[in-house]
Amino acid sequence: MRIQEICCIGAGFVGGPTMAVIAHECPEIRVTVVDSDIEKIKAWNSLDLNNLPVYEPGLKEILKKTRNKNLFFNSDIDSAIIKAQMIFLAVNTPTKKDGKGKGYAADLTNIVKCSKRIAKVSKESKIIVEKSTLPVRTAEKIKQVLKSNSTGVTFEVLSNPEFLAEGTAIEDLYKSDRVLIGSDNTKNGMNALNSLTSIYEKWIPKNKILKTSVWSAELSKLASNAMLAQRISSINSLSALCEKSGASIEEVSKAIGMDKRIGNDFLKSSPGFGGSCFQKDILNLVYLCRNYDLHEVANYWEEVVKINDYQKNRFSNKVIEYFDNKLIAKRIAIMGWSFKKNTNDSRESASIYICRDLLIKGAIINIYDPMVPPKRIISDIKNILLLNNIKGHLLKELISNIFIFKNIGDSLKLTEAILILTEWDEFKSYNWKKFIQNSTTNVHIFDSRNIIDKSIAQNIYSIGS
Ligand code: NAD
Ligand code: UGA
Repeated sequence: MRIQEICCIGAGFVGGPTMAVIAHECPEIRVTVVDSDIEKIKAWNSLDLNNLPVYEPGLKEILKKTRNKNLFFNSDIDSAIIKAQMIFLAVNTPTKKDGKGKGYAADLTNIVKCSKRIAKVSKESKIIVEKSTLPVRTAEKIKQVLKSNSTGVTFEVLSNPEFLAEGTAIEDLYKSDRVLIGSDNTKNGMNALNSLTSIYEKWIPKNKILKTSVWSAELSKLASNAMLAQRISSINSLSALCEKSGASIEEVSKAIGMDKRIGNDFLKSSPGFGGSCFQKDILNLVYLCRNYDLHEVANYWEEVVKINDYQKNRFSNKVIEYFDNKLIAKRIAIMGWSFKKNTNDSRESASIYICRDLLIKGAIINIYDPMVPPKRIISDIKNILLLNNIKGHLLKELISNIFIFKNIGDSLKLTEAILILTEWDEFKSYNWKKFIQNSTTNVHIFDSRNIIDKSIAQNIYSIGS
């Protein structure tokens, strides 16, 4: 099938950048990204490209060339579905909050809703592409929903999981290690596979397009995230041992990573991994394993998440111990709210959990992040406190202890502790030595990303040393 029109449902961190790159590389294809969130669509269409809902280096430049030429953002979902020969599903698939699988399984409500809608309004055959991260065998479920709700139209379902990382999304989309496409081994399955392959071949070398069964593609995405997160938990667990034994995690990471069988990526110790996917995808994997009665396998992967929680707690406790458990009215600066540098995304950021722990102990918190909007920071804190059953008067009181700043300098004034939680370049280049020399308080720095040279002052705690 020759693809002239693509529709992508979900204008989030994956849908937006991925479709922008497809539109840029395939000017002959008209790409429409739709979303039920009208405000988000408005933001994607905003004249000022600094107001896009997603911050990604390089994204603005691509949008300048494609938006309203062959890339469109709107909320007329049905029209976009009707016109498209190929529909990408890039909706969010969070961990279930209730019902069977609560706290572990992926919530497929958005996927099912989209599938029903596609089946209902489609008048011609279409290729459906799973872009969202989904449990293995979801394509089967999608097919059932499509079949039982359609009026005789046929659909082919492909799995094409996304491996981009936030902060480097555009670079990752252009220089993908691999593009993975899972299809059915039938004539129609192969035709659909060829249609999608011909799109990627516009900029991805043929040998990097990996073709598998649908089930392998779905599972490979979960397995990939689990393996990446496992490396971080491994190194973070060793950072605790380094602190006890006098070794340095930076030196240990380097020594391990120089073995080319291991490799040096994803061996950076941190306050714990954040982001919307690692925890969700591992919990989903754990759920799947338990579902197949593979309890030992499930327990093995669950430990990766447990160590991550341990690392976040360990960091909070370092600060609490430093103040001898007396944090009331202590002013503490949090440097960085996003879960990593170069993104405005704060989902599951370690900052949220560490800030909660200190607020509950009575601290006053100054926050600075170059990209995450203050509204978002406050809503993250409110949500985590509510989740911990803190509401009413106490909630208001704790929120009133938060101060958000527009620059580093102001956020550091009169603080007794500074927590570096995100590795923004701005924090790396800041003149910490001068700041410490001029400080009127006996300020202590807790560096969870090891970006400050520890030798510049006595009062620096670097994780894992
Ligand atoms: P997101 O929350 O940023 O965006 C999802 C969008 O889908 C939202 O804007 C939401 O309003 C929209 N949506 C949900 N249901 C809808 C419906 N029925 N109709 C129309 N719009 C609907 O999520 P994301 O970070 O882009 O992630 C999307 C998927 O991609 C997830 O499954 C995630 O695991 C996977 N993924 C994410 C990343 C990443 O870096 N964020 C990378 C790879 C894979
Ligand atoms: C991750 C994967 O890297 C992507 O391949 C995948 O597509 C994506 O999840 C997804 O499925 O959502 P992302 O979460 O955007 O991407 O960013 P990462 O660079 O993987 O960082 C995740 C977290 O791990 C961050 O909090 C980061 O600071 C932390 N991290 C990363 C470490 O603590 N140490 C490291 O060595 C690397």
